Amino acid sequence: MKVTVGVCGGIAAYKAAELVRALEKHALDVHVVMTEAAQQFVQPLTFAALTGHKVITGLWDADGSGAGEPGAEAASSIEHMDAAQTTDALVVAPATANTLAKFAHGIADDFLSALYLATTAPVIVAPAMNVNMWEHAATRANLETLAGRNVRIVSPESGYLACGMTGAGRLAETEAIVDAVLSVLQHRNDLAGETMLVTAGGTREALDPVRFLGNRSSGKMGYAMAEAAQRRGARVILVTAPTALRPPANVEVVPVVTTEEMRQAVMNRLDQTTIVIKAAAVADYRPRVQADQKLRRSGPLTLELEPTQDILAEVVAQRRAGMLVIGFAAETQDALAHGRDKLLRKGADAIVLNDVSREGVGFDADRNAVTFLTRDRAMELPEMRKRELADHILDEILALRRPRKVLAESDAPVSGD
Ligand code: PMT
Repeated sequence: MKVTVGVCGGIAAYKAAELVRALEKHALDVHVVMTEAAQQFVQPLTFAALTGHKVITGLWDADGSGAGEPGAEAASSIEHMDAAQTTDALVVAPATANTLAKFAHGIADDFLSALYLATTAPVIVAPAMNVNMWEHAATRANLETLAGRNVRIVSPESGYLACGMTGAGRLAETEAIVDAVLSVLQHRNDLAGETMLVTAGGTREALDPVRFLGNRSSGKMGYAMAEAAQRRGARVILVTAPTALRPPANVEVVPVVTTEEMRQAVMNRLDQTTIVIKAAAVADYRPRVQADQKLRRSGPLTLELEPTQDILAEVVAQRRAGMLVIGFAAETQDALAHGRDKLLRKGADAIVLNDVSREGVGFDADRNAVTFLTRDRAMELPEMRKRELADHILDEILALRRPRKVLAESDAPVSGD
């Protein structure tokens, strides 16, 4: 597999040589791109000698800076497109505040920033800079933006910095960067051949033409699942109740509003689906009668509700051989007991259990903490960004496809039954 290492201008640029060697030890074909500033710290020849490939140092044929240096090569103005399409991962180490800002704002004024914009391969950045630059609000905001676009960030370490200050900003250990690259590569296309149907958002049940019964689901968890599955090679169908989110690219989007619409959208596509993930918060009840006109205020109002159909249970009842069915559960008390009850009652292969009474996770938060619950295991996935969590949940789902090992005593079931 081909990995492109982007080297930016900072004192840690010399450590990129160690990173290149470490990646090559994992049989990866490593190519190097250097910014102009990086060449002030390390010669392109170093990387050319280590990789056996010319190092790309500039964007233009005519006057690409560094083109005259041994081992360096200025690229043609479309070469970044070729590099973007052929690389399996882009890792930038050290990543300076300047390059992170360019990535976050879509500025493509050198080869590395143009490559970042043009590639659809996973991107990992390992920042290194002065502590004040690292902690500056602008850098924090740029990193937030990049994390939100699925750029993997290998955070710098704290310690004595080359600028003489002490604090966070020192390039992460080579091993940590290599681990991030390997984990990203391992996920590449591991869901190829799967068709994943993901439900997201909160369904709405109309009371009258202007009001509805709804819930607090923002759709973030479901959209994160859809985006991660698509990135890992699955064909994804996203059945979504109304949200304020932009759907992920290259995903088939089926908008719905009510539970019944969601039910039909799911059931009509079941024959194409190999994995169903029900992250939506679905209304359990709807008004028995929907008023034709806006209800007028006149004293107490009693609503008569009727139960909706349980889509998850219906999917389980009609599942085909080999299909995996994963439910979510949002609980506010006795989460594990309720989650386990839902798992058994609905007959899903697993339930992703959220304790939504916890501050900062669950509904409408960017982060979540869940327990992946199967009949014989309860795997805690600690608090993290929903986008990152989605990958961990997908790992757990994929593990269900592997043959089960015989339970050891330490793998005690969650409860006695
Ligand atoms: O959207 P976010 O703001 O990011 O929040 C994420 C989330 C908290 C909504 C999500 O992580 C989550 O927990 N979703 C499930 C919410 C829920 O309340 O589920 P439940 O316990 O009511 O239902 C259990 C399962 O049955 C769910 O998979 C649900 O989709 C399904 N169900 C429920 C009722 C129904 N009539 N049909 C169903 O299929």
